Amino acid sequence: MQHLGVLLVLAALTASPLAAAWRPWPPRANGTTAGLGASKKFEGSSEFVKLEYHMGPVLASAITVHPIWYGAWPAAQKRTIRAFLRSLAPPPDSSARIPPPSVSAWWRTVRLYTDQTSANVSAAVTLGAEKCDARMSRGARLSRMDIQSVVRDAVTARTRPLPVDSSGGVYLVLTSPDVSVEDFCGQVCGFHYFTFPSVVGYTLPYAWVGNSARRCPEVCAYPFAIPSYVPGRKAEAPPNGDVGVDGMVSVIAHELAELASNPLANAWYAGSDPSFPTEIADLCEGIYGTGGGGAYTGQLLTDARSGAAYNVNGVGGRRFLVQWVWNPVLSYCSGPNALDQ
Ligand SMILES: *[C@@H]1O[C@H](CO)[C@@H](O)[C@H](O)[C@H]1NC(C)=O
Ligand SMILES: *[C@@H]1O[C@H](CO)[C@@H](O)[C@H](O)[C@H]1NC(C)=O
Repeated sequence: MQHLGVLLVLAALTASPLAAAWRPWPPRANGTTAGLGASKKFEGSSEFVKLEYHMGPVLASAITVHPIWYGAWPAAQKRTIRAFLRSLAPPPDSSARIPPPSVSAWWRTVRLYTDQTSANVSAAVTLGAEKCDARMSRGARLSRMDIQSVVRDAVTARTRPLPVDSSGGVYLVLTSPDVSVEDFCGQVCGFHYFTFPSVVGYTLPYAWVGNSARRCPEVCAYPFAIPSYVPGRKAEAPPNGDVGVDGMVSVIAHELAELASNPLANAWYAGSDPSFPTEIADLCEGIYGTGGGGAYTGQLLTDARSGAAYNVNGVGGRRFLVQWVWNPVLSYCSGPNALDQ
């Protein structure tokens, strides 16, 4: 029984024709979600979860994240997401210390992944140049392949194109609530992959994450909104006061963790089929603290002033709620707010 959470994730994967994606959580499982709260960290599942290294690169060089804001993005929403991205690297000097548990301590689990040369995923994650496409030049309905065209538009723009950085560049397409993306809400909240030279001119790791506020916050911004099939649970207050954006932060974290450990879909994943990989964040979807599993988030922290739920601290006194990722040393999901570490 304690493996049921993982089994549900795997069942969702085999049913889905999509690679490398964050899937809506919690899974729609009749009558079983409540009981999963007991499956602490999927203990004992290490024999079941065969996460393997497939010889490809990880993002071992300094990582630069380039946000591409597609659609209407108010400044306050951008500030929240930028603050999260700036929190991933350890602060440059000790005077800027961020109280534990921190976002950079969360990234430490991702840094446990190495490539053939024993190089770890980089600790240096910085916010790079950004691009806006407020007028939605590809329209308000995007296919999965259109996301690559949005990246192409950004790196080939006539004015201030984003730099093409194939060593550590990551292109993060963020769509506003009025943009619909193929399979958004029904099957995915975000995904990552790499661009094709035939479309973009280069092979660049990229991710897409959508703001679900108007479409499906109960699946893509859980637990800040709760689906009706999880009875008796109250929505948590979002730490930055924005259900859609606070929900996106965890999906962004998920996709960046997987991009870093599996940028070309040939490094770290479980499962025998690279088109249906189970990656390091897929294994821990919906787990934000000790005891998490099923519809239960695990132990969270509470912001004393706002009552908001969070589990990590970032720059500028910001707080965020991000899901845990699979720890290859411990062979279970872990995060810096674990009660037993
Ligand atoms: C859900 O489970 C209950 C009892 O376990 C059952 O009566 C009901 O028909 C189920 N609903 C669906 C949609 O499977
Ligand atoms: C690099 O990865 C190895 C293997 O997981 C781990 O033992 C080591 O602590 C990691 N180094 C850093 C700096 O994270």
